[in-house]
Amino acid sequence: MEILIRNTPEAGAKLGANIVSKIIQTRDKPVLGLATGATPLRMYKELIKMHQSNQLSFRDCITFNLDEYKGLPPENKHSYHFYMMSNFFDHTDIDTKNVHLPNGFANDLRESCRKYEKLIHDAGGIDLQVLGIGTNGHIGFNEPTGSFASRTWVKILSKQTIKDNSTYFETPEEVPQHVVTMGIATIMESKHCLLIANGAKKADAIRKMIEGPLSASCPASILQMHPRVTIVLDEEASYLLTFKDHYKWVEKNKLDWQLY
Ligand code: F6R
Repeated sequence: MEILIRNTPEAGAKLGANIVSKIIQTRDKPVLGLATGATPLRMYKELIKMHQSNQLSFRDCITFNLDEYKGLPPENKHSYHFYMMSNFFDHTDIDTKNVHLPNGFANDLRESCRKYEKLIHDAGGIDLQVLGIGTNGHIGFNEPTGSFASRTWVKILSKQTIKDNSTYFETPEEVPQHVVTMGIATIMESKHCLLIANGAKKADAIRKMIEGPLSASCPASILQMHPRVTIVLDEEASYLLTFKDHYKWVEKNKLDWQLY
């Protein structure tokens, strides 16, 4: 795992945007896996800025989002489809026919999840998967004790996640209890994962993910088995790491070709 610690979430967002931009500029048909939630918002703003100053085009990008609430149509303001359009895609030159999110409103969810996996496969797989992490260690909405072998499917949110996500709804009761999410196995097939986390409330999950045992109790710990993971943290999210000084040392002494 490559662990990059920055003083502030803003500095982390800039670094994240540079990593995404490098992938876009070095691929003919870049395939991006994208996340929603509070964490990537700053990075999306940075990418929009790059686009608006003519440094970056999303014209050739194909995107696949991690997840969507079950039962919410795309036009619902709480849907992740709505989030992606209003916070990111609407401000770029991406061709919306290349934008994909799991369909939480499908009549035949089984068939729709199968098709989603096939679309990712047919696009050549995901070049860079952007991830956040739940306070309980989830990635996508793969909650603790779920299977490491899971693929895109309907999952039940944990009570903790419903509470965490309720800030976007009027009441916790309004948060849908079910989501359609890429599975852990789907995420693990991405060629490169970029996980961003900020704030002290993520510190425990971050410690378990990076330094804890590989365990379905912290789904993100499976990333220890991925060949190419970049983790961008602010100081607060990294404060429980035992080997924090070592990670800073490794970054400082990397050879030029290993740096972004
Ligand atoms: C969102 C997703 C989730 C979030 C995680 C952190 O698409 O897959 O795993 O990344 O719940 O959410 P925030 O960033 O709101 O703390």
